[in-house]
Amino acid sequence: MTTAEPLAPEPLTGVSPYQHYVYAYPHKTAYRPLPARPLLSDLWAAEPKDALSLYLHIPFCEVRCGFCNLFTRIGAPDGLTGAYLDALERQATTVRDALGESDRVRFATAAFGGGTPTFLTAGELERLCDIAEHRMGADLRAVPLSVEASPATATADRLAVLAERGATRLSLGVQSFVGTEARAAVRPQRRADVETALGRIRDARIPVLNIDLIYGIDGQSEQSWLHSLDAALAWRPEELYLYPLYVRPLTGLDRRASAGGSDPAWDEQRLTLYRTGRDHLLAHGYTQQSMRMFRRADAPPQGADDHACQTDGMIGLGCGARSYTAELH
Ligand SMILES: C[S@@+](CC[C@H](N)C(=O)[O-])C[C@H]1O[C@@H](n2cnc3c(N)ncnc32)[C@H](O)[C@@H]1O
Ligand code: SF4
Repeated sequence: MTTAEPLAPEPLTGVSPYQHYVYAYPHKTAYRPLPARPLLSDLWAAEPKDALSLYLHIPFCEVRCGFCNLFTRIGAPDGLTGAYLDALERQATTVRDALGESDRVRFATAAFGGGTPTFLTAGELERLCDIAEHRMGADLRAVPLSVEASPATATADRLAVLAERGATRLSLGVQSFVGTEARAAVRPQRRADVETALGRIRDARIPVLNIDLIYGIDGQSEQSWLHSLDAALAWRPEELYLYPLYVRPLTGLDRRASAGGSDPAWDEQRLTLYRTGRDHLLAHGYTQQSMRMFRRADAPPQGADDHACQTDGMIGLGCGARSYTAELH
């Protein structure tokens, strides 16, 4: 999920164009106490509810990548995923009740994000879809459903469940196809495993494949960046997200020398790689949708045609998930 962003980073003299931002994944800085504690049912009472978005947050990962401060944890000992789904189901029931009469509530889009939703087993993913459908009333097979995955967890059994339940978009975090760069980003993964995962996703015939890549990693050059871009392009993904690396406080990479202070050479590296990536994708039949997002020009249209993300409400369920009405996040 993305917030509105300019098409290109704006270099200002003396100021890094890469300022930290708060994005639609909720993280710790997004929260404030509310002065009064309104009832959920009062907040939703006068809102239009015929084109809502549904977001389910799964806060589990196999590892904590060096760049990541998303709301997640490593592993799930002692049946924690099952207990988490129990809690998610309770929350779904409560929130659904607060939305009121069912004939006035309709979801126009759905997404499972994290963390890594595919950290859940195939059976647990079935349950997650059941919560979305039976508790919240989302018709997953009738609306766009986007799911995030990491290469190791994008297994055939999980992908089969997601495809069968209506997933229209599978977003795979790759970050880099170059082993040394993955290690520099503290993202332990092997190129061969990434390629195998991409093959499994294509086999599952989920209509839209998105690949996330990161530029600005230590040791990354224009040549190695083009190598990753070409490796991604070989799969003809319908979408590509090119993220500038941000080093956020309290992450593994925060220890790097340049963290915190300004680093004009690193800014210059990221700007150069941004331009290289943009030009390369434009030359290979992609259109630029935002600073980070590129779509294959001949890809099928994505997204609900009747959902306007600035005005239609969002129901976020799970720890750290953010909901918003037109008035309040
Ligand atoms: C929830 S993850 C994607 C799914 C899965 N957890 C994974 O990592 O494969 C979200 C994406 O945001 C991007 N991202 C997160 N933190 C970032 C940072 N500090 N700098 C650049 N990109 C970042 C990464 O490309 C990552 O794939
Ligand atoms: S980038 Fe993805 S896999 Fe890595 S810690 Fe963040 S959410 Fe988990």
